[in-house]
Amino acid sequence: MDRLPLLIFEPWLKIRFMRNTPIDSSVVAAKIKESDLSSLDNASIREIVKLVNQIEMETGEKYVRMEMGVPGLPSPLVGIQAEKAALDDGVTSIYPNIEGLPQLKEETSRFIKLFLDVDVNPKGCIPTVGSLMGSMAGYLVINRNDRTKEGTLFIDPGFPVHKQQIKILGQDYMSFDVYNYRGEKLRDKLESYLKTGKVSSILYSNPNNPAWICFTHEELKIIGELATEYDATVIEDLAYFGMDFRKQYGKPGQPPYQPTVAKYCDNYILLISSSKAFSYAGQRVGMLVISDHLYNRRYPDLRRYYTSDLIGHAMVFGALYALSAGVTHTAQYGLHAMLKAVNDGEYNYLEDVKEYGERARMMKQMFIANGFDIVYDTDIDSPIADGFYFTISFPGMSSGELLENLLYYGISAITLNITGSDRTEGLRACVSQVHRNMLPVLQERLQRFYEDFK
Ligand SMILES: Cc1ncc(COP(=O)(O)O)c(C=O)c1O
Repeated sequence: MDRLPLLIFEPWLKIRFMRNTPIDSSVVAAKIKESDLSSLDNASIREIVKLVNQIEMETGEKYVRMEMGVPGLPSPLVGIQAEKAALDDGVTSIYPNIEGLPQLKEETSRFIKLFLDVDVNPKGCIPTVGSLMGSMAGYLVINRNDRTKEGTLFIDPGFPVHKQQIKILGQDYMSFDVYNYRGEKLRDKLESYLKTGKVSSILYSNPNNPAWICFTHEELKIIGELATEYDATVIEDLAYFGMDFRKQYGKPGQPPYQPTVAKYCDNYILLISSSKAFSYAGQRVGMLVISDHLYNRRYPDLRRYYTSDLIGHAMVFGALYALSAGVTHTAQYGLHAMLKAVNDGEYNYLEDVKEYGERARMMKQMFIANGFDIVYDTDIDSPIADGFYFTISFPGMSSGELLENLLYYGISAITLNITGSDRTEGLRACVSQVHRNMLPVLQERLQRFYEDFK
């Protein structure tokens, strides 16, 4: 009975009640209403997850879920076995060293050398509770090393939680959508922000979440040179390490190497996540890698917050001690074993995650065949790579409208609005949870969507 007023006061809902959509339209409309989201334009990833869970529960229908970047592959056995052995060895009763297990630090330094061709002392390779803790620690130290500056410049679109971290720390940020500033055009745009003198750090992910843009050596050189000129620290988020499947990365110690800003400047932090590359998201373990130069730099203004003015010391015994006092012992053993297997050439992690690229290729074709456009469509002069994410739009619909309409067809995603994108018509689609047996369902639902909206 409570649906009646909706029919009267909300004409857009009336249309849906009348339409026969793959998911019961009255349930979808009611759940959207109940969710208390004022609009879907700015709904967070977790809010969409909750909404779709509720619709699935009520209708018993499975969605093609593209909203959240959950790894859809099993974790490598070598990591799991190492964790089990560590458990049996009794490491659970002992506090882990905040600086990290010595063998994990060594193996990370080796990984950086073998897969980026960059030298970093193991001292600067420090475990974190997911790479998200690495960015948090980065802001806590880098954005406080100079009292005249306080903030991060995000090269967007980006991962929304990075900005949430900055906000809850009460720090400032600036951002711009890089789509129209690729290649040499990046220089002037970047400089216009750095000139303000307020930028302590520059953060981007490469490959990029959500657009899957992959910066070139030329662009990374521009970022590195300007960071040096304006004394900003680059925080390079390598959550999708080596996952530009157009390139033949992944042979230890052999080119080509994943491009990195570490080749072009001295002040950098690399964030290495195990979540996607190693399908190890549940263990919340990543590595924060500080360049030797930055680790040893002293900033007197750090003493406002830390007992030492040395970046490396403030990072470990200031920020990371306060955040979690180290990282779960067994998870460190697991990550160590995986990195060792990769470094020794015994485990090619990229072979496993290539599946995401394959799925993206097939899914993009389906969307395009049914009237959708790819929003971030090119990587300077070539088509965007097939990877963990891609971006879509449908003619004549804003991102909020598109998301809402797709929900009636059993397809979920997030809007690009929350990623710092200028493309207010776009959605981010994540391929990881769309297993191959769901592809025919996606195809059928997209066809129906196209029939109804073309
Ligand atoms: C760009 C980016 N950075 C960081 C993360 C978080 O990584 P972790 O699970 O290691 O904290 C993600 C996860 O989706 C991501 O997409």
